[in-house]
Amino acid sequence: MSGDKKRIAVLISGRGSNMKALIEAARAPEFPAEIVLVLSNKSDAPGLESAARASIETLAISHKDFFSREAFDQALVEALEAARIDLVCLAGFMRIFSPVFIKAWQGRTINIHPALLPSFKGLNTHAQALEAGVTIHGCTVHFVTEDLDAGPIIVQAAVPVLGNDTEATLSGRVLAMEHRIYPQALSLVASGQVRIEGCRVVRNKKGSGDQMLISPEPDLQ
Ligand code: GRF
Repeated sequence: MSGDKKRIAVLISGRGSNMKALIEAARAPEFPAEIVLVLSNKSDAPGLESAARASIETLAISHKDFFSREAFDQALVEALEAARIDLVCLAGFMRIFSPVFIKAWQGRTINIHPALLPSFKGLNTHAQALEAGVTIHGCTVHFVTEDLDAGPIIVQAAVPVLGNDTEATLSGRVLAMEHRIYPQALSLVASGQVRIEGCRVVRNKKGSGDQMLISPEPDLQ
């Protein structure tokens, strides 16, 4: 099926554990997408090394080399076009896009956020969740729009918040779910099983079920 597979670029700024989960999932012959490029705004991002070890093309484009957010975004757009990318996966990419990127890639860019959106947008989501005293937390894969952490939701997963949780224990539990739902969401988008309708994501095939929320692992309850 290689010829039909969507060509994916993963954009990272750091360790790239979600990137690795996507690379791993895309090894399956039936997976509808292949990771052909890992791009980072930081040349020392550890994820770049992991990607190179997995024989995936890597590219570093530093935002510091550009005089404006728009100029950096334009360079990204051109690099993605040059690599004939179909879909972009943001995986810990710590840059906010200008309309230059959004206009070119809206509807073809997805992101993973470590909270159950629309709760806890922005940074330090696990601290925000602990502070708010929620008993359920989680993660979200969504389409990227101009509004930060607010695009149409593709898949979410929930985990319990335990009484003795710290940011570290809670983030570890959420991260394990991130690694499960990001490949699942990419598969749904790449295979054309979902579409955007207004501000929501809907399934294309009636009766295929809305398995958008994964229950907590039994041993975590
Ligand atoms: C993840 O928690 C992701 O949800 C957030 O940034 C973190 C990146 O981690 N957007 P990694 O680089 O994928 O390990």
